Amino acid sequence: MKPSTSTTPSSPQSPSSVAQSFYTRWATLYDAIARQTPGVGSVRTSAADALGLDTGDTVIEMGCGTGANLPYLADRVGPDGTVVGIDFSPGVLDVARERVSDYPHVHLVRADATRPPVVDADAVLATFVSGMFGDPGAVVSSWADLVGSGGRLCLVDLARTTHPTWQVLNPLFRALVRVTAPPRTRTMRRSPTEMLDERLVSAHRALETRCEDVVATTHALGFARIRVGTVTAQE
Ligand SMILES: C[S@@+](CC[C@H](N)C(=O)[O-])C[C@H]1O[C@@H](n2cnc3c(N)ncnc32)[C@H](O)[C@@H]1O
Repeated sequence: MKPSTSTTPSSPQSPSSVAQSFYTRWATLYDAIARQTPGVGSVRTSAADALGLDTGDTVIEMGCGTGANLPYLADRVGPDGTVVGIDFSPGVLDVARERVSDYPHVHLVRADATRPPVVDADAVLATFVSGMFGDPGAVVSSWADLVGSGGRLCLVDLARTTHPTWQVLNPLFRALVRVTAPPRTRTMRRSPTEMLDERLVSAHRALETRCEDVVATTHALGFARIRVGTVTAQE
């Protein structure tokens, strides 16, 4: 596996360009939320554990943001392994770079996670990213191709809770999704929460289709969904 540096050309007003500006501008605030929200640390630990990584493995994190997961992954693959964090927003990568400065086996690449510049890996992790892709099912399926038969895929996403006690918090969740969605998505015909739901279903369904031994769990009062599986051979 040879990570390379890559740029992500996009027109100034394209959704991906808006998202890159948004995450670059708010990188420091996002980092605080990504690491300090109650319960989020245990979600990240659970996701890294669920991947079942071995020492020496290569794991790619798609849309790694400020690198909140990277130390968890780096510890699990050890210094003989490789962790590659891919993100298209330069601001979050700057924060991530500082976070992993003590981990020489972690590499950061500015690239589009829908066309990652990597050809092989043992595992792919994507946390809180599926909702940002136009066609998440196709993207997840392409990641299954990347890791190949026997590779591991793990998605972590947020959605309204179905837990009876905590459903009372769903309106707050909707408001948070609206406020934290990159600007242009707030003015779309459907609500950001509905769009998020649709995209999450598409991403997680693709994982189910391409994997066996799928395990799905909920965390953080039912708002966080982790789905992990082992990619099967294509007929
Ligand atoms: C909500 S943040 C999640 C960051 C990180 N995974 C975490 O758990 O904190 C979404 C991240 O995905 C990145 N992103 C969205 N679409 C992307 C794409 N097509 N290619 C690369 N990065 C992307 C954004 O730049 C942002 O850093």
